[in-house]
Amino acid sequence: MEHQEHIIERYERAWIFFGLAMIAVFIILVGYLMLTMGNTNPVGAGRIDATKVRTEGDFANPRVEQVGNEYVAYVQAFAFGYLPAEMRFKVGRKVTFYITSPDVQHSFHVHNTNINVQVIPGEIAKVSYTFSKPGEYPIICNEYCGIGHANMISKLIVEP
Ligand code: CUA
Repeated sequence: MEHQEHIIERYERAWIFFGLAMIAVFIILVGYLMLTMGNTNPVGAGRIDATKVRTEGDFANPRVEQVGNEYVAYVQAFAFGYLPAEMRFKVGRKVTFYITSPDVQHSFHVHNTNINVQVIPGEIAKVSYTFSKPGEYPIICNEYCGIGHANMISKLIVEP
């Protein structure tokens, strides 16, 4: 009788171990994916008066700033284009984009990456990314925003 209970206990322990091992594998997998893909979940970085985007503050002066080894970009997505019209970064350096719109809803999709941000007037979207390959990455608008929507394209160049 006692012998049998020992066997059952061992069997249960094996299952508990298996369960914990699966959880560990899952956590490692998710961690690996987050590290390799980059965390490109856009976050809200505050609100802004959409009527003043063109005239006041950081977005009135759309630009790329170099901060140490990283970049910060202030981007206006407007009907129908992006400012700055062209951005350049060195490969392998983190870029943090702040994006907003002075008019209607747009999106900021960087081709060949998983950056795809909704740009809502009155809100500042923030997303960070490190480009690991040099090349040209067109920026396109995925949100129908009016007659010029299809031409709402911009250029992002990653230099070696
Ligand atoms: Cu902006 Cu479509």
